[in-house]
Amino acid sequence: TARLNSLSTYTEDEEMLRESVQRFANEVVGPKVREMDENEMMDPAVIKGLFDQGLMGIETSADHGGSESSFTSAIIAIEELARVDPSVSVVCDVHNTLVNTIFRKYGTKDQQDKWLPQLAENKLGSFCLSEPASGSDAFALQTRAKKDGSNWIINGSKMWITNSYEAEIFLIFANVDPAQGYKGITCFVATKDMGIQIAKKEQKLGIRASSTCTLNFDDLKVPEENVIGEVGKGYKIAIEILNEGRVGIAAQMVGLAQGAFDKAVPYTYQRSQFGQPIGTFQGMAFSIAKAAVDIESARLLTYNAARRKEEGKSFTKEAAMAKYWSSVVAQEVSGNAIEWAGGVGFTRETGIEKYWRDSKIGAIYEGTSNIQLNTIAKFVQKEYS
Ligand code: CAA
Ligand code: FAD
Repeated sequence: TARLNSLSTYTEDEEMLRESVQRFANEVVGPKVREMDENEMMDPAVIKGLFDQGLMGIETSADHGGSESSFTSAIIAIEELARVDPSVSVVCDVHNTLVNTIFRKYGTKDQQDKWLPQLAENKLGSFCLSEPASGSDAFALQTRAKKDGSNWIINGSKMWITNSYEAEIFLIFANVDPAQGYKGITCFVATKDMGIQIAKKEQKLGIRASSTCTLNFDDLKVPEENVIGEVGKGYKIAIEILNEGRVGIAAQMVGLAQGAFDKAVPYTYQRSQFGQPIGTFQGMAFSIAKAAVDIESARLLTYNAARRKEEGKSFTKEAAMAKYWSSVVAQEVSGNAIEWAGGVGFTRETGIEKYWRDSKIGAIYEGTSNIQLNTIAKFVQKEYS
């Protein structure tokens, strides 16, 4: 497929990973995309395939069963999966950039030895922060944990939890001391068999194959060795991890825009009206050219944020910019792609309309577009005042 991708700093390993993810996405995921969307259910064979391809422990060390690759590699995998199916892409994104990273960054050696190999081999993870009454205002969460001997007892509800229908490992943020405000928030790891209840599975506009559920914790008993990081430091863990996750969502939106572009643009050179290919009318050609610029700009922002993270430089502002802009571009390009293909773009058969439905989520999860703009605005104010 014709592709726009002129970033000049991918390593050979990263290019190899890209090719293998492309192959997996095209051959294994591609034929199932429509069915999974219509059934609102991920095919278990696809999740198994992600594990078998080594895509569920991309940055995890080889000792722990992972691929020991770069953060940029994790981002490339998300982009390439999203080009074919943004739902599959977010499964991989949450599992790697949020769940695995928390263990790698904040887990003790014992916790890493215990959890990372399972997460690389076959157990899906989810990240449970949002609640019915706290989305953007995430640190106002109402889930509580109380110490009881050598256990913590967790009570509350989480809403909108990606992967949770299939997951076995759950990172749960709960407040152990509400009097301290968000400085009581603590991160726990729990497994499904400890008694996590799925209360509701959402029916959504887009990324319909990716599960999104409400979870209830009713006296969920978690041993004290399952606290990740320090008690009271969960808020910092959550937001620092989200800074990385946001680069992942930016990549998902870049891949989505690219996927819509790749599907629609060739059609515009095959289809003729008024005796000429529709893609060669200036009105069409300029719209396509502008989309090419938009995708490239979103990609450059995304990989710049990824490289800064890898180099240990500050990247919070860059991650917010990348996520904000890629979400704008994804929606714009996928919407235009429908129009470039005319009536056939509007049918479910071509799959172009699905990209547009899927694009809406970019501006909502892992911090809405306004939350990203808040972050960017704070940096600008600090730099200019
Ligand atoms: N990076 C690092 N630290 C940050 C930060 C950032 N981007 N934003 C805030 N903080 C820190 C502050 O430094 C401060 O810490 P200290 O007290 O230790 O100094 C603390 O957080 C509180 O800061 P604020 O008072 O500025 O924060 P707030 O209460 O107004 O809002 C927030 C903070 C909840 C992080 C909010 O800005 C935010 O990001 N909301 C969106 C929540 C979100 O992204 N949820 C995603 C859920 S997961 C998901 O969605 C996964 C998926 O779909 C696939
Ligand atoms: P609200 O916070 O109520 O926001 C509604 C509107 O108000 C938005 O436009 C927002 O920008 C605006 N707004 C709110 N505050 C401000 C402000 N201060 N300034 C300007 N505007 C503001 N969460 C998890 O923890 N784990 C997951 O795996 C996960 N997966 C998700 C998957 C899906 C499909 C969805 C839909 C959500 C998921 N979420 C997950 C939750 C997601 O992170 C939240 O939906 C998101 O943070 C927004 O919260 P909210 O939906 O409560 O919207």
